[in-house]
Amino acid sequence: MQLSCWSFKLKSKAFITAAILCFTSLTGFSQRSKLAPTPPMGYMTWNFYADKITEQDVKTIADAMVANGLVQLGYDYIFIDDGWQGGRDKRNNIIPDPKKFPSGIKALADYVHSKGIKLGIYSDAAPLTCAGYTASLNFETQDAKTFAAWGIDYLKYDYCGAPSDKETAMDRYRTMADALSNSGRDIVFGICEWGGRQPWTWASEVGGNLWRIDGDIRDKWSASFDAPGTPKGGIGILDAVNRNADLVAYAKPGAWNDPDMLVVGLYGRKGPSGDLGGVGCNDIEYQSQMSLWCLQAAPLMVTCDVANMNAATKRILTNKEILAIDQDPLGKQAERKINENNWQVYLKPLSDGAYAVGILNTDSTTRKYSLPLSQLGLTGKYASLNVWSGERKKNQSKLSYELKAHETIVLKLQK
Ligand code: GLA
Repeated sequence: MQLSCWSFKLKSKAFITAAILCFTSLTGFSQRSKLAPTPPMGYMTWNFYADKITEQDVKTIADAMVANGLVQLGYDYIFIDDGWQGGRDKRNNIIPDPKKFPSGIKALADYVHSKGIKLGIYSDAAPLTCAGYTASLNFETQDAKTFAAWGIDYLKYDYCGAPSDKETAMDRYRTMADALSNSGRDIVFGICEWGGRQPWTWASEVGGNLWRIDGDIRDKWSASFDAPGTPKGGIGILDAVNRNADLVAYAKPGAWNDPDMLVVGLYGRKGPSGDLGGVGCNDIEYQSQMSLWCLQAAPLMVTCDVANMNAATKRILTNKEILAIDQDPLGKQAERKINENNWQVYLKPLSDGAYAVGILNTDSTTRKYSLPLSQLGLTGKYASLNVWSGERKKNQSKLSYELKAHETIVLKLQK
């Protein structure tokens, strides 16, 4: 995009105007790209509360996330997804539903900020959102200013009800990104058009900090295990991972591939993640989602009942080593080095010179796997830390492990 800005062969005034516009847009872009230096982490309300979310629910989530240590571990956003809107007032200012948010969003933002948590909100690039609530098309500047005045820190911007072509999508997302840039507040911008228009090729250029690469994730391992008769369209953990594996080149600090929320701890709960075959996963599969999301430098958005997590869910979501791999400042997404015989192996370089390696058994049985590190391009001997078991080994030039069905082992390798 940078070069195309300068490809105008215009003269005098027109050239200068184009140059100024170009400079402004580049500056805006470089400022926006500083907003999410590592993948955002937090809580997203959609899978658990759907559009019934209320002010009291957000406070309950905030209190629980402080009490159980999630905020201190870096899960420092709460995103209010669809369903908060109550239309517009006489001056066309967007307002929250007064029954669900009686104190208003500003007071709620003050509350969560006082707990060390940032607040996210949701809108859509059309007149109405996916769940049929008031959205922001043609009100971008006004809504961005309202969000800034409320103290909003993140906007997830959906695409229901909008035209299907890529040019319109780019235009509508750029309009909102510019409105956010001019709102007077730093607001992270999440693009949510479900991957249909290859947003990884343009989302960062128009001002997005992350972009969904796929449709809504369901609480299941893979669509290929759907029972006969399951309505089509629901993707599972493995489906999202496979898609993301091809998008390594596009992730960098300030610009992230987003394979959607963590379904860890939902166990087939009824709700948005429970339809289209969302029958639930076992803890090995949930641990794999966490492993693979972190290896792939994905945003980590918890959606389970954080006030009542069981021990397994808590263990998966709070492992400091796996979180550090996701949040590594180098911002590299793991490359899939091996994908054969139902084995996948991922390699993620880390900022301290170490590597994270993930081995995934996509088969339905327990199997043994052995891999000379030279096959990953790693020469010499490494000390290894098994991130989930805590086991440490020295002088490794070959990895040998037994993995259960759908298990992912994650190792940190250091010279
Ligand atoms: C779309 C998005 C979801 C969620 C809902 C809300 O389906 O992809 O993540 O935000 O809309 O209506």
